[in-house]
Amino acid sequence: MKQIRFSVIALTCVTLLGCENPGGMGNDAQPRDYSSIFTPLTSSLYPSNNPYNESKEQLGELLFWDPVLSGDQNTSCASCHHPDFGWADGRAFSIGSDGVGLGPARYGFEVTSIHSPTIMNVAFTGMTHNVTTENFVSGGYFWDLRASTLEDQALGPIKNPVEMLGYNISEQDIMAEIVTRLQAIPEYVELFEQAFTVSDAINSENIVKALATFERKITTPNTRFDRFLSGEQTIFTQQEIIGLNKFIDGGCSRCHMGPMLSDNLIHIGEAIIGEDVVRTPSLRNISYTAPYMHDGSRTRLIDAIAIYENRGDIEVTIGDGDFNDIEAFLKTLNTDDFYKGKPNFVPSGLTVGGDIY
Ligand code: HEC
Ligand code: HEC
Repeated sequence: MKQIRFSVIALTCVTLLGCENPGGMGNDAQPRDYSSIFTPLTSSLYPSNNPYNESKEQLGELLFWDPVLSGDQNTSCASCHHPDFGWADGRAFSIGSDGVGLGPARYGFEVTSIHSPTIMNVAFTGMTHNVTTENFVSGGYFWDLRASTLEDQALGPIKNPVEMLGYNISEQDIMAEIVTRLQAIPEYVELFEQAFTVSDAINSENIVKALATFERKITTPNTRFDRFLSGEQTIFTQQEIIGLNKFIDGGCSRCHMGPMLSDNLIHIGEAIIGEDVVRTPSLRNISYTAPYMHDGSRTRLIDAIAIYENRGDIEVTIGDGDFNDIEAFLKTLNTDDFYKGKPNFVPSGLTVGGDIY
């Protein structure tokens, strides 16, 4: 069957198209050995200094949705990382501490200066091709890599006035204030004890450990791309294979490689759009996390790909004849099979998620 299909394509090439693809590369529909560039994602990953346990994960989930962590008790992590928007917020820039509403409909006066990335698969951020789960040390977080662990990252939004802090309490005082608030809620006292198996477990370190443990739950290992890499080669259409080969031959995989399709590096002197140089984002579950780029300036995936036309400056060689094939390949990184849970209550008794109605 396969043989026949290939010869029909070859014939079409000769008679109709002359095998040329103006404004693009040749169409190579032959699957290759991709194992030196990409690896499938595994299902979960926890560092030895913050090992998994179920109570910690459940506690982290409640904290993630509880506005008790914000200065004015109106914003939660889920205000900007919400399952309905692929664990991001569907906005170019986010509205935090003075905002009301969810996703594109959220309104408020102050906005973040950079686009909110998804928290899907953050357990693997920084995992590049030759890294195994045994020798993995997490890569940097944030667009400028300023936090080195997922635990440290969580303090960022809590101490940021535009995101969760607001203007009625200082950055220095907020963690002590949060600890006092949580200690006054018997359910949290008990949950922290269970999660960390010591009494008096409510402190800043354990708060971020619980948050990170919950975030590490949200992974998408079973995409069609992962199955293709694991040997199910017939799962890809011809266009998807062509797109994958163009992604490599066009120079995309120099930065977008490994299990996350990202080297998680800042390529000095190689701005992709505008003048800001930021780290390479993951391309996993890409259709769920529009708009794209650090300024959220590209609404459709095809527009994010089109940025790369005629980009000799970053050694990329794709033309407009390649956009659709590459888009078809990138969509194989999508799966709807990701955790979308929302708690029905949070122990503080505040509104779940904050003012996101
Ligand atoms: C007001 C919206 C907002 C809130 C609330 C918020 N975030 Fe974020 N989050 C962002 C933005 C914007 C960025 C990117 C900031 C940057 O890179 O400088 C980000 C980045 C992140 C990242 C880094 C992802 C990566 O790929 O590097 C993680 C993880 C994260 N947030 C988790 C959280 C957690 C946990 C909370 C709650 C404690 C939280 N966020 C609260 C908007 C928000
Ligand atoms: C030099 C490294 C590099 C190369 C080569 C590269 N990218 Fe990127 N890619 C990045 C960086 C960095 C960003 C974020 C840019 C920004 O936001 O300003 C990005 C962003 C993206 C995004 C948007 C992701 C999101 O969630 O916002 C897509 C899609 C993308 N790249 C696809 C491609 C394709 C397709 C190619 C090849 C044609 C390619 N990239 C080549 C580094 C690279």
